[in-house]
Amino acid sequence: MAFQITKAVIPAAGLGTRFLPATKAMPKEMLPVVDKPAIQYVVEEAVAAGLKDVLMITGRNKSALENHFDRVGELEAALERKGDTVRLQKVNYSTELAEVHYLRQGDPLGLGHAVLRARMHVGNQPFAVLLGDDLIDERDPLLTRMLQVQAERNASVIALLEVDPSQAHLYGIATVEAADARTAGDDDVVRITGLVEKPAEGTQLSNLAIIGRYVLRPEIFDILDRTEPGKGGEIQLTDALETLAADPSIAGGVYGVIFRGRRYDTGDRLDYIKAIVQLAVERRDLGPDLRPWLKQFSSTLD
Ligand code: UTP
Repeated sequence: MAFQITKAVIPAAGLGTRFLPATKAMPKEMLPVVDKPAIQYVVEEAVAAGLKDVLMITGRNKSALENHFDRVGELEAALERKGDTVRLQKVNYSTELAEVHYLRQGDPLGLGHAVLRARMHVGNQPFAVLLGDDLIDERDPLLTRMLQVQAERNASVIALLEVDPSQAHLYGIATVEAADARTAGDDDVVRITGLVEKPAEGTQLSNLAIIGRYVLRPEIFDILDRTEPGKGGEIQLTDALETLAADPSIAGGVYGVIFRGRRYDTGDRLDYIKAIVQLAVERRDLGPDLRPWLKQFSSTLD
C-alpha cells in the first residue's frame, strides 16, 4: 500500500571540517548561499514537495539553526518601526515555512547514525532524507519525482547523478540494472544492484553517484541498527542501503532516479563558490549588475 509521505529528515550534525574555520561556531548548513542559509533552500524544497513536517538532526552549535526558523522579536519590531515590510516578510517567511523539530545526534558517528536517530519521530512509514550539502534547483523538482517513484514501486528510492569517472571516489557509487517500466516517462528509473561508499580512486564501478536525496522505507532503521562502522569509521547510510538493495524481499529493494537537472554542491569550497555565482547571476535583483562585472572580471584572468 502506498503511504502519503509527510516527513522529511534533514541531517545537519556533521562537523563541516572542509569549511573550517567558518564552521567552528556555526553548522555548515547555515552558510549563506547568496542571501539565504543553505538549510533554508532545503526546507523550502521539502515543503514544495508536500513535506511540512521536518526533523533536523543537529549537533553542536545547533542554536543558529533553531534561531533561523524561530521568531526574532527584536528584529521584527525594528523592521516594523522602519516600515520595511519587504525585509520583514523575508524574516517571517522562514519562521512560518514548516513545522520544524530538532533532535540531537549525540556523537557524530556518521550519516547512517544521524538517520537512525529519526526513528521515533518517523515511526513505521516511508520518509524523505535531504542533505544540506546538495541544493537542487527549484525548477527541477527531483524530490517530487522520487516520491512518485516511491509510491509506484513501494520501495526505497535514491537520487543518482552521472559524474565524471575521475570524481567517482568522492561519492557513494551505484551499480544498476534496467528497471521494469511502470509509466511512459520511466527512463530515469533504474534498479540498484550494489552501492559502494567512496570507492578507491581508479575503481571503475559506474559513473552514477548518490546525491543527497533519499526516500526510504522504515525497514532501513533495523538495518542501520545492525550496520557496523564503515568508511572513515562512520556508520554509513550507503552501507545500509547496500544491504537493502541486496535483498528486494525485505522491503522492495532500492531504485534510483537519475537526476539530469541543476544541482549545486555546497559541501565543497570550490563548488560552493560556483553555486553562489550560478544562482546570483540568475537573480533578478543581482544578475543584471553581476553579469557584466563577471564578464569584465573574467577577461582580466589569464
Ligand atoms: P559530510 O560527509 O559532508 O560530512 O556529511 P560533514 O562533517 O558535514 O562535512 P566535512 O566533510 O567534515 O566538511 C554529509 C551530511 O551528513 C550529515 C552532515 O551534516 C551532512 O549533511 N552528517 C554527517 C550528520 O548529520 N551526522 C554525522 O555524524 C555525519
